[in-house]
Amino acid sequence: MTYTPDLFDEFAINGVTFRSRVLRSSLGGRMAYYDGTVAPVWKNFERRFARPEFHVGGIISATIDVDAKRVSPLEYPKLSDDRFIAPLAEGVRAVQAQGCRYIVQLGDPGGHTQASLLSQEEDGKSASAVIDGYYGYRNRTSPMSLDEIAAEVGNFAAAARRVRAAGADGLEVTASKGYLIHQFLNPATNRRADAYGGSVENRFRLLREVAIAVRQAVGRDFLFGVRLSAVDHNWLPFPNLRWPPVWPPRDYFVGNTLSTTLQYGRWLKELAVDYLHIDSGFGFVNPKGSPGDYPAEGLRLFANSVRHLSAKAQIRATLLNLIPAPIAKVLLGVGWRYVPAANAGYARAFREHVGLPVIANGGFQEREVMEGALGRGECDLIAIGRPLLANPNLLALIKEYKKPAKPCTWCSLCCTRTAVLPIGCYDRSRFPTQDDMEDQIMRFSADST
Ligand SMILES: Cc1cc2nc3c(=O)[nH]c(=O)nc-3n(C[C@H](O)[C@H](O)[C@H](O)COP(=O)(O)O)c2cc1C
Repeated sequence: MTYTPDLFDEFAINGVTFRSRVLRSSLGGRMAYYDGTVAPVWKNFERRFARPEFHVGGIISATIDVDAKRVSPLEYPKLSDDRFIAPLAEGVRAVQAQGCRYIVQLGDPGGHTQASLLSQEEDGKSASAVIDGYYGYRNRTSPMSLDEIAAEVGNFAAAARRVRAAGADGLEVTASKGYLIHQFLNPATNRRADAYGGSVENRFRLLREVAIAVRQAVGRDFLFGVRLSAVDHNWLPFPNLRWPPVWPPRDYFVGNTLSTTLQYGRWLKELAVDYLHIDSGFGFVNPKGSPGDYPAEGLRLFANSVRHLSAKAQIRATLLNLIPAPIAKVLLGVGWRYVPAANAGYARAFREHVGLPVIANGGFQEREVMEGALGRGECDLIAIGRPLLANPNLLALIKEYKKPAKPCTWCSLCCTRTAVLPIGCYDRSRFPTQDDMEDQIMRFSADST
């Protein structure tokens, strides 16, 4: 008889035991001081999800930047210097004290950097020179030199050492979300002719070097995972065309296919990576990674907040302001819709063909959907973002076979407002009054001892 895991079963990877099969996914927000040191609001925010009675097995941090130059966006946390360790450690301990595990996610947005104080060339650093109509504020990305690539690998290794020094339970490198490593993996953004571009093996080289350096920095006994996008869907958000185009059309419109990313997964296993965290799409936000309605109003707000940074950012904001929201939903909302367990099928492919423990991400809120994914062997763990932001007690309700009175509606206003406004649920329809909505946002930052 095959064993069907329960949502509230423990699960262990490389010596780290999670008390349930559900993790809080990365949720980035303005919770640091201007220099990137985490502020008390960050500790309070994370601790709220960690309460024992809420049953969240572990928390994956926001993408914490490894590059000192990045302001991405303002008041997001960084780990590019030793001075960031002590405040991070304090928050990590506060989460762990509640029996919840804490994994720090490291990344660098590279050419997808969306915000800065003033425009700076480093925010366009990427695999190659490309004009991207949607992501990043720089008019055009700029190819990294070999010295810059070596320095970047060093940044990841140094930050990894700091994660361990901060006492976290584990570390995750993001090779997803269209961030720098993903820009090297994706054939539409990597047009290099040197050892870091061209073949699948060469496009993987940066991730290979980062994985080796990180493993060396933290040791074999430290939990280390990689967040990977199973399929790039390059044309989404529609119509995200990059200039100049690349040949063949599949590289341009699709990007990495599942067979290629499974190969990445197998290589990562050989490099002693402990788990894979699977989503899909290329860029944040995108309809495959954050399935739900087209967030027209939120995208407009964000585009307006960075329009001063470049001609591209200005044109993008002007277009989004000109197109009425209902028309934008039809024209630009292609592919945006809620899909339960959106990436569980991909997660299953990794679990079967790579053989590492797999976290599935995107579109989990109902008990049946989660149990179905676990029961069918599609994943070992589930990561939840928006539904936990809407209802941090979601799992407590599920354990009692109840549903939240006001579930997450997948409106994605939280995703699109988080870089500009305090993190929280901005779906006014979920609250009796506007004051209640605002109170919920402000309460997240309150000390919850
Ligand atoms: C407010 C907000 C901030 C996010 N910040 C990050 C981030 O810093 N790093 C990351 O990898 N994903 C980030 N995400 C994506 C989530 O981790 C998750 O993949 C996405 O919301 C889909 O999961 P869901 O359907 O459970 O919400 C963010 C999502 C939201 C809603």
